[in-house]
Amino acid sequence: MEAIQITDAKKYFYTRKKPGERHEQNVLMRLLRPAKEIVPAVDNITLNVKKGEIFGILGPNGSGKSTLIRMLSTLIIPDSGSLKIFGMDISKESLKVRRFINRVSVDAAFFKKLSAWENLSYAARLYGVDTKTARSRAKEILASLLLDEEKLDEPLENLSRGMQQKVAIARALLTSPVLLLLDEPTTGLDPVSKRQVQQYILKMRAIHDTTVLLTSHDLDEVDRICDRLAIIKDGKFLVCDTPENLKKNYSKNGRLTSLEDIFISLTGQDLTEDGTE
Ligand SMILES: Nc1ncnc2c1ncn2[C@@H]1O[C@H](COP(=O)(O)OP(=O)(O)O)[C@@H](O)[C@H]1O
Ligand SMILES: [Mg+2]
Repeated sequence: MEAIQITDAKKYFYTRKKPGERHEQNVLMRLLRPAKEIVPAVDNITLNVKKGEIFGILGPNGSGKSTLIRMLSTLIIPDSGSLKIFGMDISKESLKVRRFINRVSVDAAFFKKLSAWENLSYAARLYGVDTKTARSRAKEILASLLLDEEKLDEPLENLSRGMQQKVAIARALLTSPVLLLLDEPTTGLDPVSKRQVQQYILKMRAIHDTTVLLTSHDLDEVDRICDRLAIIKDGKFLVCDTPENLKKNYSKNGRLTSLEDIFISLTGQDLTEDGTE
């Protein structure tokens, strides 16, 4: 059975135009033009991910990665299309679906005044993991991500972004890792921690046959750990294949191109230029 089945998913946002854009026009134009604009954040995306597969979504800022992950994690409702997790429709069976999903996000929803440990034990309780098991598992995970144990008891707001990101990862891995939705899990981490998180993702898959959907800015990362990847721009998938096939299909004069070349030729954009933190 497919772990993730997305068919023609669409999510448009209806947003107020930025004041700057409106002032540029003359008064008449301002009256005639709507003050709102439609942003097609996810525009007809179809995707199937098999159980145990690691699938990467690569795209610049604002391309729709988080919107897609948020729909799958039942945080926002799609405008149209169907999204299923292990055959369950995310709109009709959202409570069931939520039990399978773990989401890690850079803008992790934490209680910032509480300590890392308090946040983790809260999550553990939500998922029915007992406190003792949770504490020992959290220690093990955070140690392997090189986060000091003593940091566990400090208010989360005192921790750096990279440290908070590690806590977010630990939170996702504490509980049943059937499906991980990782929204830029390594953005903002130093190179060593990055590698550790990548190793951990591979380890989870090896042990638990975890299905992983991750978004990234990092070409090396998706090349290294993903079985397949899609390049997304303006809410649309431009390509979707294995890294090997992509490199082969886009090779020039018999020479394999890098994923980076493919990305630039497809999007006209350099990933490193788009404000990665
Ligand atoms: N809640 C929202 N309200 C209005 N616009 C949004 C909202 N969330 C995202 N967007 C817009 O949708 C587009 C895709 O955003 P997002 O999915 O966050 O991209 P990414 O994660 O790839 O950076 C962007 O243009 C963004 O400004
Ligand atoms: Mg995002």
